[in-house]
Amino acid sequence: MSRPFGPDQILKVSGADLLSDLDLTDDELLYLLDLAEAVKQAPRDYAQALAGKSIALLFEKPSLRTRLTFELAIRELGGGSVFVDGPIGVREPLKDVARNLDRWVNGIVARVFSQSTVEGLAHWSSVPVINALSDAYHPCQALGDMQTVREYFGDLKGRKLAFIGDGNNVAQSLMLTAVRLGMDFALGCPEGYTPDPDIVAQAEGLAAVEGASVVVTHDAAEALRGAHVVYTDVWASMGQEQEAIERKKAFHSYQVNDALFAQARADAIFMHCLPAKRGEEGSDSVMEAKRSAVFDQAENRLHAQKALLLMMLT
Ligand code: CP
Ligand code: NVA
Repeated sequence: MSRPFGPDQILKVSGADLLSDLDLTDDELLYLLDLAEAVKQAPRDYAQALAGKSIALLFEKPSLRTRLTFELAIRELGGGSVFVDGPIGVREPLKDVARNLDRWVNGIVARVFSQSTVEGLAHWSSVPVINALSDAYHPCQALGDMQTVREYFGDLKGRKLAFIGDGNNVAQSLMLTAVRLGMDFALGCPEGYTPDPDIVAQAEGLAAVEGASVVVTHDAAEALRGAHVVYTDVWASMGQEQEAIERKKAFHSYQVNDALFAQARADAIFMHCLPAKRGEEGSDSVMEAKRSAVFDQAENRLHAQKALLLMMLT
């Protein structure tokens, strides 16, 4: 590999923030995945890279993986973090919150209900803002996931990812990221639960450049045909709990169980961002299957986010 990965040679991202997956250029995305691998192999080389930097974590929603992997990533890179939970922009206006943080910290990681909240934080502060999940995107998840798929399959070009379930934030980020790496992307979902048509159109445009494809279908078998990766996520995301019963009915035939998983390639892996509702979107058997990559994904959140922090903050 000719590109530099040393702690003093990290490529700086061109955009200020990571609000959606598209804030990284194709080159930056590829570099980030390589850097994440380098960081995973030699974490101690980067132990002082964020020395003297402080990062605020603002979380409107619960988290196990994202909060802990960011806190650990920052600590293992020599930086410090402060955590605040609760709604942003209620006790005081969002623009005031952002301008306070701007005076204290070197970066903001925010998990929010509305995409407009991370956009507002980015608008009103001069420090990098990282989207740690919104209603529209979960870009940090997609980064760790692509690192994981590369570990199983090597080059991603010509591989296929089938997402079975809700066309939600995780699906939308995966779609935008996978096609830029040359993967075919298919989503199998019930009627009424398709992704945002604008994001699908964006993904189709990006896929065309790579010779990849995007399919949105209500036929799970069609989505699964030839898939290297079978991915699912909860049917009711955080904030949609009141729709859980109605969604359970709509999605029941889209559960990734042994029968559905068997419709993908024989060497397919099962992925889930977690937290999972076992027995709903995925059966216990696929979660525990030999080809389940769910804990590899969780591990790689740490390494991919370290790479992201290095590129955005050093
Ligand atoms: N996958 C993920 O983002 O998990 P948390 O909600 O626990 O952060
Ligand atoms: N789609 C889920 C992902 C959780 C990591 C949610 O938004 O709740």
